[in-house]
Amino acid sequence: MAVRLGDEAPDFTAETTQGTVEFHKWKGSDWAILFSHPKDFTPVCTTELGMVAKLMPEFRKRHTKVIGLSVDPVASHHTWEKDIEEVTGTAVNFPMIADPDRKVSHLYDMIHPNANDTLTVRSVFIVGPDNKVKLTLTYPASTGRNFDEILRVLDGLQLSAKFPVSTPANWHKGDDVIVATTLSTEDARSKFPKGVTEKKPYLRTTPSPE
Ligand code: BEZ
Repeated sequence: MAVRLGDEAPDFTAETTQGTVEFHKWKGSDWAILFSHPKDFTPVCTTELGMVAKLMPEFRKRHTKVIGLSVDPVASHHTWEKDIEEVTGTAVNFPMIADPDRKVSHLYDMIHPNANDTLTVRSVFIVGPDNKVKLTLTYPASTGRNFDEILRVLDGLQLSAKFPVSTPANWHKGDDVIVATTLSTEDARSKFPKGVTEKKPYLRTTPSPE
């Protein structure tokens, strides 16, 4: 069954390149990103994993753990990791789940049979400290993901978790944000001392509260 926004992220125990992982226990009260790539020793996936490894300091700054998944076994992942380091210049610094029996892939609905009946699509799940799913993304095998966008959405999610705000189109950390419609303009002005601009009664902006 599909995993939807607001659902509890299904728990699982899986073999990974860094040993056995019990997902909820491993994640603890941090944020987490679980992402799948279709297969080991494939070109797009190689570039993606190198990029995630390179961005790891950015994920750490955001208290976010990262875990990858591919249907191949752990021994294959370890051999592939050497290629990833050689080609991208960054060693893989996060666990990769081996899912040869497709247990986790099916749990998270990562196999879309009309795209490919044995390999996973490129799924991304962002899970909050409360273990609830905050974002899902699905990309096809042919298109590498933009991990700057994943960091950007993580920034937006973390800001909205902290303040009654949402983020407009193409927002980036530090830009003005939108005041939650649940707040009156009067309450918003006292909550956001940097000022509130009322463009429409339902569209009020304020400088980033961080
Ligand atoms: C790739 O990562 O390039 C890839 C993965 C699965 C099928 C085809 C290509």
